[in-house]
Amino acid sequence: MHSGTMLGAVRHKGLIPWDDDIDVMVEEFFESKLELVVPELAAKGILLKERDTPGILQFYCTHFTSSDIVRQEIYLQIDVFLGERVQLKNQTVLHYQSKYFRECFPNRYIEIDSLYPLKNYDFGPFTVKGIRDYSGYFSRSGFRTDEAIVMRHMNFDHFLPEIEQLKVQGDYPIRDEKYLRYRHEVNMDELLEKPTIKPKTVLTYGTFDLFHVGHVNLLRRLRALGDRLIVGLSSDEFNAIKGKKSFYSYEERKNILLASQYVDEVIPENNWEQKVDDVKKYNVDIFGMGSDWTGKFDELKHNCEVVYLDRTKDISTTEVKQSLSGLNADKIKELEKSLHSTLDIVLHLASSVGERK
Ligand code: CTP
Repeated sequence: MHSGTMLGAVRHKGLIPWDDDIDVMVEEFFESKLELVVPELAAKGILLKERDTPGILQFYCTHFTSSDIVRQEIYLQIDVFLGERVQLKNQTVLHYQSKYFRECFPNRYIEIDSLYPLKNYDFGPFTVKGIRDYSGYFSRSGFRTDEAIVMRHMNFDHFLPEIEQLKVQGDYPIRDEKYLRYRHEVNMDELLEKPTIKPKTVLTYGTFDLFHVGHVNLLRRLRALGDRLIVGLSSDEFNAIKGKKSFYSYEERKNILLASQYVDEVIPENNWEQKVDDVKKYNVDIFGMGSDWTGKFDELKHNCEVVYLDRTKDISTTEVKQSLSGLNADKIKELEKSLHSTLDIVLHLASSVGERK
């Protein structure tokens, strides 16, 4: 637990009643493990938002909206910050990996010695791991257990009139035990019965050889249509049937695709006919291809939504191959020569800077 969630665990033994998100920190070396649980969480209705800020994974929980908490129809958000170990004043501390958050909260770091071994805290109906000795962390962060302030949060304007009222009455910061120790009573059975939003699965097919920006644009836009993107990747055997030979093998192309942040799963495409079966098997909601395929897969409209997205102009694997094959041995020599003279200039400049020093 981190930030307001950690404070809530100590002060309210659960969520701070006027909080609107859950804050968690995970050491950065667990990032790849964290990504492994994404599909598992998605199946439970906890969905990962598109990752646009490095150092943070944001999930939203579709079981209940934060209207239950802050009276607004916004899904309860779960911020999972990646933590980086850094040396600070002769000690090792866990700080935000994200430069942005580190700038926003320069003092919100945790000394490793006060962090581990993690301690169990009661948190509503759960027991959750938190900072062993939170005193330094709380005082650096301005977190108090004897009084509460209401921080302005994204979804928060709703409380402002009430806070103003409290201020007028002289009851702010909040010290009234009734509020200071307030706990939500959560009925887990009732909560789990609430309908969740089914995560949307998107499916596309292609060879994706010599991965280029046209592929990136397509995959990014397809992924944004849903919560999970599956790529049916043409196998080397199927490419042979299509009269294509890729530069990279199936396994290599698969690994390149999986390294992209937009692709969740890669399955082999072995023939033209498998699409309907794949749509059923993987519970696909949207089938999408580049616009060069417009109309070609309309048959699938009986089974799911079908979209064709505009291709990125002026790039294709075929064109990349053609431009590269235009580089003959002489051209490569010429390139080498100019690279060497650039290097000479750089080295010369570097040594003259050294002399001046
Ligand atoms: N694609 C795209 N924009 C591009 C190139 C490809 O949106 N500039 C899309 C295609 O429409 C297809 C997917 O990427 O849905 C995979 O296409 P693929 O045939 O593997 O890539 P191309 O670069 O088109 O390869 P080739 O030149 O071999 O056809």
